Amino acid sequence: MKKALSLLTVSAMAVSMLAGCGSSNTAATTAATTAAATEAAKTETAAPAAAATEAATTAAAEAGSTDLADKKVGVCIYQFSDNFMTLFRTELQSYLESLGFKPENISIVDGANDQATQTNQIQNFITSGVDVLIINPVNSSSAATITDMVTAANIPLVYINREPDEQEEKRWADENMNVTYVGCDARQSGTMQGEIVADLENKGDINGDGKVSYIMIEGDPENVDAQYRTEFSVKALKDAGIEVEELDDQVGNWDQAQAQSLVANSLAQHGKDIEVVFCNNDAMALGALQAIEAAGETVGTDVYLLGVDALQEACENVKTGKQTGTVFNDHISQSHSAADAAVKYLKGETNDHYIGCDYVKVTTANVDDILASLG
Ligand code: BGC
Repeated sequence: MKKALSLLTVSAMAVSMLAGCGSSNTAATTAATTAAATEAAKTETAAPAAAATEAATTAAAEAGSTDLADKKVGVCIYQFSDNFMTLFRTELQSYLESLGFKPENISIVDGANDQATQTNQIQNFITSGVDVLIINPVNSSSAATITDMVTAANIPLVYINREPDEQEEKRWADENMNVTYVGCDARQSGTMQGEIVADLENKGDINGDGKVSYIMIEGDPENVDAQYRTEFSVKALKDAGIEVEELDDQVGNWDQAQAQSLVANSLAQHGKDIEVVFCNNDAMALGALQAIEAAGETVGTDVYLLGVDALQEACENVKTGKQTGTVFNDHISQSHSAADAAVKYLKGETNDHYIGCDYVKVTTANVDDILASLG
């Protein structure tokens, strides 16, 4: 299990650099910032490892009083082959065990990117009598149906990673449902990608023609993370007074191989006119890098490359200059918050209907700290 606390110093620093998130979650962001700063102050005075151990022990002690050993948790992941969700579910499993759930009572299933398959899995969990469900929906637009199925069976529900829409979240509050969402505000990650480019000495304008010409490689467009990252990365450039030109916008479905072929096509068409490659996640940035290198171009000289997630490999690339930057999508904090929310429901307590988390900008300036935190 990873130590979430050791990351809080980094989060507090990064949050203070965040500008123009412009979200309805501003209050949540501010609260999170304060909490992160407080926790960071705590970790600075105590040895970080000791503080993390103490926090884990406290969480386990609190959870223990509900006798979690007998509780069954069902976890639905939209697709096991997704790099980021693999980190998320691995951390979730080990954190649940550290809280006192028995491994045989934690069941994690692969939706194989098919909503019908996942809906069946949810039905099976309900029939088998799980005590709580943690769901990463295949389609966020199916959330209302999923919520109805699960709440009709009186099972509390924690959504992760793919945020249902505002109307659905409002219903949980209006109808006092034991349903919550744990995740980060994707607008923040898009903004940070744009800011990394705007902070470069040439502000991304490699050829000096007065504008930044970019291509966008999007994740699954049904997912709000893809929509917001696409919109807010470019908005951050414009907000910094930079003129932009979109040369291409393609859907790579969060997938490395798809991104590689899309970027290869785009490079064949636009060549050195492309100054920035924005990818909605790091898996696709890894694919983009393969295409860039195959075309004989060099990141940092011929083109800039941005991703999101802070996958280990992408961070190594940031370190060696093969990727300009990324944004840490904190799977440790998100998986722990999801498990903690599930435990609160099991204890008969309530949760807020939105549990947020902050992204962290990653460049050469702090990549070593991030890599150390990832362990
Ligand atoms: C991550 C992607 C991942 C997607 C899955 C996003 O938040 O950045 O890497 O593929 O979630 O829903």
